[in-house]
Amino acid sequence: MNANQSHEMQGKGDEAVINNALPPSATLPPSDYIIIGGTGDLALRKILPALFWRYLDGQITAEYRIAAASRRDMELDDFADKIRPFCENAFTSGVASEADWTGFLSIITLITLDVADASGGDRLAQFVNERANADRPTIYYMAIASSLFGDATRLLKQCGLVTPQARLVVEKPLGHDGKTSRAINAELAEIFDERQIYRIDHYLGKETVQNLMALRFANVIFESQWNNNHIDHVQITVAETVGAGSRADYYDSYGAIRDMVQNHLLQLVCLVAMEPPSYFNADQVRDEKLRVLRAIRPVALDDVQTGQYQEYTGELGRASDTETYVAMRLMIDNWRWAGVPFYIRTGKKMAQRASEIVITFKQRSHDIFQRNGNGDVGGEPNRLIIRLQPSEGLRLQLISKRPGPGGMRLFPSELNLSFDDTFEERLPDAYERLLMDTARGNQTLFMRHDEVFAAWEIIDPVLAMIAGNAPSLYRAGSMGPQDDLLAADGRQWIDPYED
Ligand code: BG6
Repeated sequence: MNANQSHEMQGKGDEAVINNALPPSATLPPSDYIIIGGTGDLALRKILPALFWRYLDGQITAEYRIAAASRRDMELDDFADKIRPFCENAFTSGVASEADWTGFLSIITLITLDVADASGGDRLAQFVNERANADRPTIYYMAIASSLFGDATRLLKQCGLVTPQARLVVEKPLGHDGKTSRAINAELAEIFDERQIYRIDHYLGKETVQNLMALRFANVIFESQWNNNHIDHVQITVAETVGAGSRADYYDSYGAIRDMVQNHLLQLVCLVAMEPPSYFNADQVRDEKLRVLRAIRPVALDDVQTGQYQEYTGELGRASDTETYVAMRLMIDNWRWAGVPFYIRTGKKMAQRASEIVITFKQRSHDIFQRNGNGDVGGEPNRLIIRLQPSEGLRLQLISKRPGPGGMRLFPSELNLSFDDTFEERLPDAYERLLMDTARGNQTLFMRHDEVFAAWEIIDPVLAMIAGNAPSLYRAGSMGPQDDLLAADGRQWIDPYED
């Protein structure tokens, strides 16, 4: 069965599995997590700490097993020392004890495996087969370069490990362009069914990103406003203070457009713009996101602005035209969004680490306060600001009357839903949610192959268009190069709140 057929077959009948809304700490069927590339950066920084937190919450029990499979021969004590710094916040916040740590380590096994020369497959097979049964999911997490996905999946197949309960987790970059992305996908689809493939975009696991769906689809008040009659434009900013740092070589061959826009930012655009799905299940949500991607108008050269922080080439040690900042104007050609620009921007070494979606509503059609001569801020539109990180929350900017005498003096005020102040729970890392969804068999927050391809269809022409154009330089610690994009439309970027 090919990937397309399997996706079409996944219908309403699967909802019980796909969409079972278990409470956050509910235990799931005991599963085996096999991390291929288990001693690498992603495993140490993200995957293992996320599993530790789930263990602390009681969601992962002693019945689970975690295997870190890697070329490196390592003792468990040394491995534990490597993960520990990334788990330290669990101890400093008083949640984890030494007994928890020992308990967690007791479910970890290290396996020496080299997917490139297919050695160690027997060890892995023996480990998996010890507990294999039809009710026990085995999750193979490819924490390795995508160039090795083919070798790794073929090895799993040779070892007889591609069973119905096997699931495959892959991370971006899923290709360098549409063509390579399709080639990677073809390798995966040869061995795994689409329903077994979990393509992570960790932005979809962020609490506030999921909350965006709750905001839109669990409340009625915004729905009637959520269109081109009421919304003037949308801005999405994902600003980072870090530079390319130790990933400079990887980053230089990708740049901000491939690294951030092709995946994270386009996914955010989809969640803001998508139609309500009939059900909150994997294929319905992904069908609606795909429709948005397909409705995005081909991007023109004057819809794109690129930048590079001044120190970048010095850090890299060579000349480079790679963009470390990009801003784009996207138009979505459908009934709901015709005429509403979506401005997106992301950059490294910017003034602050902050990700925000700002929905700016249209002006009132008739302003009674302006006419009275008292409306000094009457020109401010309403805005809904969805703060993705840090200090997650929602702010609705409204115009109010300033209390006291002096007539009808108006000023901007806001309704502020700060998640920190409202919820006692710790906001889990995106990986925690996504890893548990793989055990649960819920693909809603993972990308389907056709979404990835559709995103590349938007991005490939942009990359071709800007090839050879030097990005504008910007000062590290600024908000990117001087804006040409919004200025051309008579608008300006709304800088994120200071944390
Ligand atoms: C990754 C990119 O996907 O996302 C990185 O490769 C980027 O370059 C990171 O720094 C940002 O993630 P977050 O969760 O810190 O916003």
